[in-house]
Amino acid sequence: MPTLQMTDVTKSYRTDLVETRALDRISLTVEDGEFVAVSGPSGSGKTTFLNVTGLLDGFESGTYLLDGKDVSRLTDREQSRIRNEKIGFVFQSFNLIPDLDVFDNVDVPLRYRGLPAADRRRRIESAITRVGLAARLHHLPSQLSGGQQQRVAIARALAGEPRLILADEPTGNLDSSTAHEIMSLLHEVNDSGTTIVMVTHDPGSAAHAARQLHILDGRLIDLREEMPSIQPRSISPAATRAAEGAASRIPAAG
Ligand SMILES: Nc1ncnc2c1ncn2[C@@H]1O[C@H](COP(=O)(O)OP(=O)(O)O)[C@@H](O)[C@H]1O
Ligand SMILES: [Mg+2]
Repeated sequence: MPTLQMTDVTKSYRTDLVETRALDRISLTVEDGEFVAVSGPSGSGKTTFLNVTGLLDGFESGTYLLDGKDVSRLTDREQSRIRNEKIGFVFQSFNLIPDLDVFDNVDVPLRYRGLPAADRRRRIESAITRVGLAARLHHLPSQLSGGQQQRVAIARALAGEPRLILADEPTGNLDSSTAHEIMSLLHEVNDSGTTIVMVTHDPGSAAHAARQLHILDGRLIDLREEMPSIQPRSISPAATRAAEGAASRIPAAG
């Protein structure tokens, strides 16, 4: 069963002066275990797409099945429960709570779910170890670098053991070498089976994903489908890694 399946999802924003069709008949299937990057220029609809995908925002027409379940007709309460159990979020600005330490930040969504303390502790320590911050359990976000803060945000997403991680410009506030480290971490997470959908305006980050889609004026373009003779049907993680290795031997500009 695909992790997510959207058909003709459309969403507009209306203000007094203009109506913007932020998502225009988006149709997309993401299979379990895929790593998909959606890239597009500023204002093309990336954040709207991710917010709809993450049940943070509604849409007007079309259908959306998450893990086989039609999520459009659920109450807010049911949506937040599904969001909390199935989806982990990673944002450009990390979205950590400044006066909570690393451990407590990762604990926030687990508390919200009402998990028992021992289970929470196990999940938190394991997630923080996975992102390489076991020595920083009681640091505050302000005592960490940007890359470390994003690792905490990834640990917070992982601790929920989500089926799907949604990332909105996860490297947008990071320098290029830290961005590369964060993308490698997302690769590892994906290799262990978690589906990832990432939106970005940065072609360098998008290049890390096995499947790349583009969004322009709210319309989704899959180059793989538009140019089947040119684009390979899929790129194996090993092939992607090999390409990355080659790329990393070329000195980065800037
Ligand atoms: N809350 C809102 N009210 C009105 N228009 C909005 C709102 N959010 C986004 N938009 C418009 O929808 C379009 C897509 O925005 P967004 O999804 O944020 O794009 P991106 O993340 O690709 O930069 C833009 O034209 C933007 O101005
Ligand atoms: Mg955006």
